[in-house]
Amino acid sequence: MDLERIKRVGIAAAYKGADVLRCQFGKISQVDKKGAIDLVTEADIESEKKILSTIQRAFSDHTVLAEESGLNKAVSDYKWLIDPLDGTTNFAHQLPIFSISIAFAIKDDIHIGIVLNPVNGELFSAIRGQGAQLNGSPIRVSMTTKVSESLLVTGFPYNIHEIFDPIIARYANCLQASQGIRRLGSAALDLCYVACGRFDGFWEQNLKPWDTAAGSVIASEAGAQVTDFSNQNFTVDAKEILTTNGCIHKEMLSLLQLKEGNEKRIY
Ligand code: IPD
Ligand code: CA
Ligand code: CA
Repeated sequence: MDLERIKRVGIAAAYKGADVLRCQFGKISQVDKKGAIDLVTEADIESEKKILSTIQRAFSDHTVLAEESGLNKAVSDYKWLIDPLDGTTNFAHQLPIFSISIAFAIKDDIHIGIVLNPVNGELFSAIRGQGAQLNGSPIRVSMTTKVSESLLVTGFPYNIHEIFDPIIARYANCLQASQGIRRLGSAALDLCYVACGRFDGFWEQNLKPWDTAAGSVIASEAGAQVTDFSNQNFTVDAKEILTTNGCIHKEMLSLLQLKEGNEKRIY
């Protein structure tokens, strides 16, 4: 399997999607809802079409899981996981923080991650076992050793109202312990910003495979530790993700661990 070629095709597809997003940014006339607070725009759909046509032109027999169109019919060990616009809520509100996230898996193991920020041109990429890059230069996680000196980032899932208590309890714990928390609105960028040391840690619940597939391999190739809240190795089907520079992982795990009574109340 020529992973370099696959990466090149993935990057070309990401740039096609980025053209759509840049063109439509600020000009969206209609925003639809997939759920109470889960939005979708023409830009999500159009970006996905461009990405899919680029990938399928090169690899018509590969399986594809894309956020807006779901799973294609091809049955293969090779699978693409695509979020054509990560940060739709920002995009719909004309807030220029969003990305395109494309991953490639072999038998469900993620081997390639590509995350492109169409606004500033930052391209994060990684091939498993070969390190991670930002615009072609190697990146590494931060060396911050304590949560009290850390800048963290998190996100909130679309079913936040159903699981409000644990989300707020974890947020409160981390807010009290850290230097600060940001909520950017693009999980793929959150993961890449841990990868390049801008953030020391990221956590979120209920993300989907297309949100985390690319960013998690980029982060881990940059030296990040990527687990669930119980310190089990992360897989894209996990309900939770904790990604840190490694040094603060243990401390973050204990901040995310809720007391028995609270857990019962909320799940
Ligand atoms: C969302 C973003 C956001 C995260 C949400 C995701 P979307 O993806 O990644 O940061 O907090 O949980 O669903 O819907 O903009 O592709
Ligand atoms: Ca997403
Ligand atoms: Ca999306």
